[in-house]
Amino acid sequence: MNVRRVTVLISGGGSNLQALIDACNGGRLPVRIVHVISNRADAAGLVRASSAGIPASILEHADFQERGEFDRALIELISTHAPDLVVLAGFMRILGPAVLDRFNCRMINLHPSLLPRHRGTDTCRRAIQAGDAEHGASMHFVTAELDGGPVIAQVRIPVMEGDDAHSLMARLAPREHALVVATVELFGRCSVQCADNAVSIDGKRLTNPLLLNANGHFSV
Ligand code: GRF
Repeated sequence: MNVRRVTVLISGGGSNLQALIDACNGGRLPVRIVHVISNRADAAGLVRASSAGIPASILEHADFQERGEFDRALIELISTHAPDLVVLAGFMRILGPAVLDRFNCRMINLHPSLLPRHRGTDTCRRAIQAGDAEHGASMHFVTAELDGGPVIAQVRIPVMEGDDAHSLMARLAPREHALVVATVELFGRCSVQCADNAVSIDGKRLTNPLLLNANGHFSV
């Protein structure tokens, strides 16, 4: 079944959420963002959700004694809007096994690196430090392995002479926006599945992640 209802999890500015909202409003995405959840009350992305008329919720982990309690509350909160797909877009919290089991193969994450390179944080600085000629972003299924789930799609950008983490991140941001939009569009138009640590699209197993082209679409 193709995805119709999407819930987006955020922690900060929500520029990727905004890209999704704009793509929905522009008619490109055959899906509806039904709910936005932030684990931080001060996330600017919450304002973007409200301005777009999307129900927004705050679930701060500081309000919970232990990780498992937060995870159970998150499962319940996500479930209230019955999404087909949960998109982690700048969501900076590691989720426990209960959440991963509940939304197995229905939860995807945007990560700012060319996975499997540079899992974790501070990826732009680490890419420069490693002397990488290319950097980029990945959309992957969320599994128990941190930033280690099967990769669906990527966007690549060159690392330029004189780049620092700031300039590289600034060039990557609009490409991340395009990647998250194209990936959610893919889920809306095709059946994207995850099994045996691999991705298949309309029944065909991917051998490599899809690659976003300059026009914001996947090259075939
Ligand atoms: C993005 O760079 C994303 O890759 C990273 O956090 C940032 C989120 O930005 N994980 P925003 O909140 O969507 O503006």
